[in-house]
Amino acid sequence: MDGKFIVMEGLDGSGKTTQLRLLEEHLSGKGLIVDVTAEPTVSTLGGMIRDALSGYIRRTDCEIAALFAADRVQHNVNPVWGIEKLLSQGRTVLCDRYYYSSMAYQGTLTDWDWVAGMNLNSPQIRKPDLCIFLDVDYERSMARMNSGNRTYLEIYENPEMLIATRKSYYRAFEQLKDRDNIVIIDAARSIEEVAAAVAKAADTLFL
Ligand code: TMP
Repeated sequence: MDGKFIVMEGLDGSGKTTQLRLLEEHLSGKGLIVDVTAEPTVSTLGGMIRDALSGYIRRTDCEIAALFAADRVQHNVNPVWGIEKLLSQGRTVLCDRYYYSSMAYQGTLTDWDWVAGMNLNSPQIRKPDLCIFLDVDYERSMARMNSGNRTYLEIYENPEMLIATRKSYYRAFEQLKDRDNIVIIDAARSIEEVAAAVAKAADTLFL
């Protein structure tokens, strides 16, 4: 039987990395074999995306949207580290960001229906079993980013973009509410409280 595919979403600074690690521990503790993966991926396409996000290479928003979709297909089908491969081995896959990010970020910056269609209608972009959204407002997102030890901000990390992105996440969740399994979690709480809510949401897949 295929393993379960769980996606974690949220604004930059929402605590995704910490919560993914805690969820990995939680699920491993139940005896599951868990892999954590992320988008953009480690593929050549992922490298091109990172160069664009850092501002090192200038690309249009449409180019970036298309690169993300291509990288996501690669993420699904790569014969070594692809999601399909891992799930077919019965492993649980946790993914840091997925097509909800493309809708929220590139959907805002380009054409919503084009980005949504490219991702949702692709035969090689699998629908997750669960999407967990860690919800924080932009002030908290900026504050958490600034308190980190990072020396640069990516092109989307400014208040206007964060406000627009959060709104777009909600637009995506409304559009997908009868299609995808989405759980929104208030991530302004303590790490422990958020982790408990995340674990509870994930546990519903393993009853
Ligand atoms: P992160 O690795 O810190 O989450 O950053 C990845 C950045 O990529 C973040 O700013 C959001 C952005 N992103 C998109 O714009 N569209 C996408 O489809 C994905 C997966 C990420």
